[in-house]
Amino acid sequence: MGGVFLGLDAGPAVRIVVPQPKDAQSLPIGGERSPAAHPTMSSMNRRHFLKAAAVTGTGLTILRSGTLFGQNTPNKKLNVALIGVWGRGLAHYEGLAKENVVALCDVNELRFPEALAKFPGAKTYIDWRKCLDHKGLDAIVCCTPDHHHAHIAIWAMNRGLHVYMEKPIALSVEEARLVRAEYLKKKDKIATQAGTQRHANPNFARVRELIKDGAVGDLQGVFVWGNRKLPRPGYLAPEGTPPSTLHYDQWIGPSPYHPYNPGYFSGSAGANCLQWNMFWDFGTGQVGDMGAHTMDLAWNAIDAGVPTSIEAKGDAFNPDVTPVELTAHFNHPANDWRPAIRVSWYQGGALPTSPKPWIDLNKIGHGVMFKGAKGVLVADFNTRTLIPAADSSDLTYYKPRKPAEVTPPIGNFQDEFFRACKGNLKTSCNFDYNGLMTEQMALGLAAYRSGKKLDYDGKTGTVTNAPEANAFLKRKYTDRAGWPING
Ligand SMILES: NC(=O)c1ccc[n+]([C@@H]2O[C@H](COP(=O)([O-])OP(=O)(O)OC[C@H]3O[C@@H](n4cnc5c(N)ncnc54)[C@H](O)[C@@H]3O)[C@@H](O)[C@H]2O)c1
Repeated sequence: MGGVFLGLDAGPAVRIVVPQPKDAQSLPIGGERSPAAHPTMSSMNRRHFLKAAAVTGTGLTILRSGTLFGQNTPNKKLNVALIGVWGRGLAHYEGLAKENVVALCDVNELRFPEALAKFPGAKTYIDWRKCLDHKGLDAIVCCTPDHHHAHIAIWAMNRGLHVYMEKPIALSVEEARLVRAEYLKKKDKIATQAGTQRHANPNFARVRELIKDGAVGDLQGVFVWGNRKLPRPGYLAPEGTPPSTLHYDQWIGPSPYHPYNPGYFSGSAGANCLQWNMFWDFGTGQVGDMGAHTMDLAWNAIDAGVPTSIEAKGDAFNPDVTPVELTAHFNHPANDWRPAIRVSWYQGGALPTSPKPWIDLNKIGHGVMFKGAKGVLVADFNTRTLIPAADSSDLTYYKPRKPAEVTPPIGNFQDEFFRACKGNLKTSCNFDYNGLMTEQMALGLAAYRSGKKLDYDGKTGTVTNAPEANAFLKRKYTDRAGWPING
């Protein structure tokens, strides 16, 4: 087929066919292709394949030869496991094809034929806990639903593996802190990257330069918003039984059990997360969905840690579903180049006040605004507009960089991760940088749930003025054995 599907996070939850990806790192490649239609599979007896996979519980068992870790072999290719092979996983195929994909893991056996056609010889797994023990593994790329992310990240780092984790890397404050802490222990040995690939758009660096160089003067406030709305009344009602090719218990994994409904699986490639990410046990709604990308545009420019106080308001609390509309304010102390600032997140219809009547923030969709003493910078993922505070301003207070001082481009975001695994371990969105941002965003949901302004001690990860709110820093887990977060 001639087009590609924009990934879920690339825009509205509709399938858009475009001629060719200009920016391959931000566009999932491929789309829904029937496994049975694939040439490799059509030459096999598909029923036999699925039966064999079901019997072994792990799928095909074609092993790669040799046991040397790929990154130590002469061709310097990494031995990588792709966990969650369809949907967002498809967007990683081209980058992964430059490495040795030795293991493929998915709870849906129907997703294997297409993945095996691209990565023949890889061993298939249903259970990521077994996949992580694949002999000789160097790195994982994880594209499972969000409620497995912190677990998989920590289990993988415990095994000394480099980790590329799709966003959000965690669902709760506690999880974000655990993931970051584990990374900080291992940071001299492993590379990590959170899947916020827009970070490689040159605009991210340009926005940071403008803010750091004083284009808006002293920074006073940062406003971040997203207008996606995915209202749902509650978890889907029980409907039917899972097909034998879908390992539903494994899909539920560390979360409390919710009965099967095919609706959780009815989205198109790269957009299926819109079918489950609004439910508390599977995601954090727009906080972890577009919020992970849009807050990154602000976070990259403000050098912030965890906030010292947080307040939030939104829709009436629903125990099943995260809020559609939410406003959260985070107070951050001063650092060595800027004063104390308030960072605000608006979603689902809530918006900051536009700096000028002719700027419609809702039309920007997902954007960031930096307010300073001398001006305002409004940006989306690719563009930026600088508005001096005074109409008479001549901008002489601001000295643009010389060409040699401009931040060099990151290049392809996924490639940056693989290069880091083989070299200096440096990535632009490691679990330190992204862990702090994820902790901040999860604090917004905790403040929303508590209904109070929370004072937060970032050293201990506790709310100091409302002890009962500490319960909202954690998420609920299954009581079934076998799913510890630190395994
Ligand atoms: N960075 C981006 O722009 C971007 C875009 C889309 C999605 N995402 C993220 O990617 C992740 C996946 O989203 P999606 O829409 O592809 O979801 P999805 O529901 O389509 O799941 C992706 C794949 O993971 C498999 N899977 C589900 N549970 C699994 C498990 N426990 N172990 C192994 N495989 C499992 C599914 O069968 C599917 O093949 C989400 O975290 C989402 O936030 C990121």
